[in-house]
Amino acid sequence: MNSETAKVLDLPAAAVYQQEFTIRYDYPVYFTERVFDRDNPVFEDALCRRESGKRHRFAAFIDANVAASWPALAHEIAAYAQAHADTMDLVAPPEVVPAGEHVKNDATLVTRLQQRLGELAIDRHSYVVAVGGGALLDMIGFVAATTHRGVRHVRIPTTVLAQNDSGVGVKNGINAFGKKNFLGCFAPPHAVLNDLGFLRTLHPRDRISGIAEAVKVSLIRDAMFFDWLEANADALRDCVPAATARMIRRCAELHMRQIAHGGDPFESGSGRPLDYGHWSAHKLEALTAHELRHGEAVAIGVTLDTRYSVQAGMLQAGAEERVHALFKRLGFHLWHPAMESRDDHGRLLILDGIEEFREHLGGELTVTMLRGIGRGEEVNSLDRGQIVKAMAWLRRRETGL
Ligand SMILES: NC(=O)c1ccc[n+]([C@@H]2O[C@H](COP(=O)([O-])OP(=O)(O)OC[C@H]3O[C@@H](n4cnc5c(N)ncnc54)[C@H](O)[C@@H]3O)[C@@H](O)[C@H]2O)c1
Ligand SMILES: [Zn+2]
Repeated sequence: MNSETAKVLDLPAAAVYQQEFTIRYDYPVYFTERVFDRDNPVFEDALCRRESGKRHRFAAFIDANVAASWPALAHEIAAYAQAHADTMDLVAPPEVVPAGEHVKNDATLVTRLQQRLGELAIDRHSYVVAVGGGALLDMIGFVAATTHRGVRHVRIPTTVLAQNDSGVGVKNGINAFGKKNFLGCFAPPHAVLNDLGFLRTLHPRDRISGIAEAVKVSLIRDAMFFDWLEANADALRDCVPAATARMIRRCAELHMRQIAHGGDPFESGSGRPLDYGHWSAHKLEALTAHELRHGEAVAIGVTLDTRYSVQAGMLQAGAEERVHALFKRLGFHLWHPAMESRDDHGRLLILDGIEEFREHLGGELTVTMLRGIGRGEEVNSLDRGQIVKAMAWLRRRETGL
């Protein structure tokens, strides 16, 4: 408003109008089995939970490796929609999309899927249903959140990691410019449907890698859970369903609790409390050109930061041995040659992960370290010399050198 107009309206020329509102989010995380059996009400409940009494349009996308392992799945989804035609409308046959971490490196796939949602006339009251691993869900969540500024997204996670961590949270995104999760958004899902049955066809490597997030969250939040993981390590390594189910539930619960009650669900402060061991893990994923799975990199990062916590005098010595021993029993390999990659000046590239971690959130560097098993504590600086020492400790443990 120019001052002439202000005079006419008899208002002061300068003013601040304080805008303020709160949005409440809620979404169910179901634990079920045989989610697309016609008699299983969970999927229908998820679609109908906001508005009952109407036909809900949805498009479904399936992780290529899930589709290969479960060849009848697309048909089952279509048959489920048919059997519940009074409440839902599958707008096109379920589509199989590439999966694995490389889909997060492919911006053209995001554009292609956004275009596809346009072709299918998916609007803000329709649903995008994604069935797959954490990488596919992160990418499709981003597609859904950016189409029409946000269409509803139902996640059906099919890996241990996606069921116990990534799939139950609020973050979506892809990698770009050599940086993990560089493009993305906070957009809570409409519902999450965890079906344990899918885990049966996972590659053993992927079954195990997701357990790293359970070890991580137990270390920062729940000592009893850590003890339980130790006591059940063999059953978890062998993917005994009862133990796996219990681990997934507790891990998902702890992640959900942090998001809902940690005071900063969209991470607008400087802290990333759930990302213990992740400053190096994210960097390692990039340094290994994603040869390491996220969970495998997290296991290395968590072990390093536990040793660092001991060296820094925060954590009682011996705890790092327990963590190392637990990961070994679970079947993790905790060393990768890329950890020692250096730039032309001989600097360890992994150390760049510290600044990249800070930059991802902005503000002051805030990294979680351990004060005890089950007790994370934020610190605002890292001693690079001590990190190098912790790495030497881990290398000796893993390679004998
Ligand atoms: N959004 C978040 O909050 C968050 C949190 C943690 C991790 N993540 C992200 O999650 C991703 C890792 O997820 P992931 O560990 O699930 O890996 P992934 O999605 O790459 O899946 C691993 C492999 O298993 C295949 N697969 C998935 N389900 C299968 C099944 N049931 N049977 C057979 N094969 C199957 C996939 O196609 C893939 O090849 C990373 O990109 C990581 O950054 C996100
Ligand atoms: Zn993680």
